[in-house]
Amino acid sequence: MNIVRTIADVRTALEPHRRAGRTIGFVPTMGYFHAGHASLMRRARETSDVVVVSLFVNPTQFNDPSDLTAYPRDEERDAALASTEGVDILFAPAATDVYPPGFATTVVVTRVTEQMEGATRGVSHFVGVATVVAKLFNMVQPTTAFFGQKDAQQALVVRRMTRDLDIPVRIEVCPTVREPDGLAMSSRNVRLSAAARDQALALSAALSSAERAVAAGVRDARVLLDSARAVMRGRGVEPEYLEIVSADTLAAVDRIAGEALMAVAAHVGGVRLIDNVMLRAG
Ligand code: PAJ
Repeated sequence: MNIVRTIADVRTALEPHRRAGRTIGFVPTMGYFHAGHASLMRRARETSDVVVVSLFVNPTQFNDPSDLTAYPRDEERDAALASTEGVDILFAPAATDVYPPGFATTVVVTRVTEQMEGATRGVSHFVGVATVVAKLFNMVQPTTAFFGQKDAQQALVVRRMTRDLDIPVRIEVCPTVREPDGLAMSSRNVRLSAAARDQALALSAALSSAERAVAAGVRDARVLLDSARAVMRGRGVEPEYLEIVSADTLAAVDRIAGEALMAVAAHVGGVRLIDNVMLRAG
């Protein structure tokens, strides 16, 4: 595996592959890899000739400065894991290379950024995400980029941006990887104390109770949300948001017909966690 640290070097490393007509699979990350990241790398490895993973803790998408400071980092461990997964190039640029002095351009995606994460973390979060992902796409120019369903709204924002800006990259969204007890894998999970780790199950428990209710025939979103909220309260967790929305537009839905996205965010022991499931009727 080749570790490259500058935009010029990633371009140079990819040039011969591009000339040879090889497909480039790209997994953008902020590091501190877990099985969720590994699943994206594996999917990229299965489907692409060359696999590039970026590792960049993007400061502009952190609305909370203490969350940025506390964000876990371990490049050595990440490089070892990426290498095990057959990654060809680990691209770890410096913030000064990504945001040189005088940087003055941002990508603003509207509509699908206004609810849920956008409403709670502030609009600047998705401006930060969309801008850095657009920049990374321009640096790597991948054939296909892989994102996790764990960050469902982020995946939707990236899809919208690539379509709206005609960026020639295919977006593939991969399923959420969970711990055996249901907790969605997240780099932030290492910050949970033992007690908070237990409480954190409130999110996946609430979502799976809704899935079971839908399977049993419940279609009313209000009913599903009330009982999911009760599941969370039973574990001492108050959601920051808990919503059932259209998976395409993120507009609230009253009844489950076809597919709907149920998404939740909550602070547990000082750590902000998110999770979601697709509810499928019929
Ligand atoms: P990060 O949180 O490191 O996540 C990198 C990718 O891994 C994202 O596409 C995310 O959805 C996916 N992922 C995280 N947890 C997952 C899980 N449990 N199962 C499956 N996939 C999972 O998301 C970001 O970084 C950043 O916002 C980024 C896109 C890199 C832009 O800075």
